[in-house]
Amino acid sequence: MSGAAIEADSVSARSEVDVLFSAESIAQRVDALGGEIAAHIDRNCMVIAVLKGSFVFCADLIRALHRAGMHPRIDFLTLSSYGTGTESSGDVRITRDISDDVAGMDVLLVDDILESGRTMVFAKQLIEERGAKSVSICVFLDKAEKRKVAIEADHVGFICPDQFVVGYGLDYAHYYRELPFVGVLRRD
Ligand code: IMP
Ligand code: MG
Repeated sequence: MSGAAIEADSVSARSEVDVLFSAESIAQRVDALGGEIAAHIDRNCMVIAVLKGSFVFCADLIRALHRAGMHPRIDFLTLSSYGTGTESSGDVRITRDISDDVAGMDVLLVDDILESGRTMVFAKQLIEERGAKSVSICVFLDKAEKRKVAIEADHVGFICPDQFVVGYGLDYAHYYRELPFVGVLRRD
């Protein structure tokens, strides 16, 4: 899709980001995801948003889960692996831990993008070691061809091409998270 297709009201974004997934298509997909997840996980599960990138997606997803009849507990796990560049360091760290006990819970981990898979392997192992009954994974975007370790998501919003994307919570050096759509950062 070309830059001309951008419907965003952000003038600065207009010249730098080409729309990949529009706000409308995201809203439709996230709503459908809520139903898919509700069919597979306990109504009283625990949703853990893996921050920072998933905060916009997870906020929409939990309301889709509500519409699908679910009643989850919500917690937040801040992990870092990227620094401020576009290349993954591969070194995943806990910046801020969850505050709830996951023992015996059906947990749904929610992240923005599954790329190398290192972030999700780390998060899944952490929650399993703490005694969760089950751990499922939902990611907004899946860059399947970039996987470096063996892990797959149970629920995926969109398959993402191998390009650096921003918006809808995803950042480049902490910018662009506010965009209501997902776009490819043009670097020319
Ligand atoms: P992984 O550990 O390589 O799977 O990295 C996943 C994390 O890298 C995501 O949670 C994002 O924070 C970040 N990331 C990967 N690809 C992109 C991208 O295209 N745009 C913004 N962040 C990205
Ligand atoms: Mg992230």
